[in-house]
Amino acid sequence: MKMKLQEVFDLYEEQLGLVEFSIRELFRNKIPFIPLIGNYIISSGGKRMRPLFHLISADLAGYKGNAHIDIAGIIESIHTASLLHDDVVDMAEIRRGNPTANSIWGNQIVVLVGDFLYSNALKTAVMQKNQKIMEILSGATTRMTEGELLQLNRTGNPDITEHDYIEIISAKTGALISAACRLGAVLAELPEAQENALAQFGMKTGIVFQMADDILDYMADENALGKNLCKDLEEGKITLPLLNLLTVAGEDERSEIKQIIRDFSDKGISRIMALLQKYRSIELSLQKARSLLDEARSELSAFPDGQAKEALLALSEYSLQREK
Ligand code: IPE
Ligand code: IPE
Ligand code: MG
Ligand code: MG
Repeated sequence: MKMKLQEVFDLYEEQLGLVEFSIRELFRNKIPFIPLIGNYIISSGGKRMRPLFHLISADLAGYKGNAHIDIAGIIESIHTASLLHDDVVDMAEIRRGNPTANSIWGNQIVVLVGDFLYSNALKTAVMQKNQKIMEILSGATTRMTEGELLQLNRTGNPDITEHDYIEIISAKTGALISAACRLGAVLAELPEAQENALAQFGMKTGIVFQMADDILDYMADENALGKNLCKDLEEGKITLPLLNLLTVAGEDERSEIKQIIRDFSDKGISRIMALLQKYRSIELSLQKARSLLDEARSELSAFPDGQAKEALLALSEYSLQREK
């Protein structure tokens, strides 16, 4: 029997509770904006997927210490910083069902709190006194920003290829989930082959996670998602469903789509939705994500069967099959 997501959360409930303390510790500061905005975004929810990826990976790797709690907090803090910045860049108004921090406090403060969260997370990681951990965390953080920049560079360009798309999402989303999983192996001092397998599992699952996000942007229940729909098209972000559509649509439709990307309107959205349906682009995108997820799962074949592996597989499944 496959493990359900709720069982995964139940299994790691106590550890996740400790991670919450460790996250809040990272927001403690005498400069009022830091705890204010930090607490605002942390209390608004968030699935805590990346901490969970790390906790379970450490478990699967056989780690017995407690450094994984602080590292999970550091990872969530890096994620939080990336969301604060991403919402400024995307001019987003809603996240986790609430107004975004930038729409309440403005861009200036939010960018600086994001800066603080990034640097304070890495500063805290230094205390682990482990060069390898530092390399992985700082490497992932760097990749995330590269990914966001690469994406901006391709904004509004309908000639973007699937290869470009995968490059962007590997960096902006895959890198941190991959690091979360790799660090489980690093804590347990596993041999390189197993460390790389966990990192590959995380990378592929992370890519699938972003593909799902990009699909949900077109078809989610907006309330459940807690973000506005069709933001990507509005921003000129060409993601998997639209990429699929651009490859299968006829010549006239292609130029029509390109025109909509240039001049976004509500009418344009409805037209894209109709075309996505006509060419089954959502379904085909889901199929693509599914086959990558199968590859991700097979990376775990080098690990013993058991509860931790089941939990990690359940979390990877949820990365694709989710409503928010
Ligand atoms: C949102 O990440 C940003 C992406 C990489 C798609 P999550 O979907 O994990 O956001 P929260 O933390 O649960 O709100
Ligand atoms: C993911 O991209 C952002 C990060 C990895 C920081 P999106 O722009 O698609 O994320 P959402 O949809 O705003 O959560
Ligand atoms: Mg965004
Ligand atoms: Mg998105």
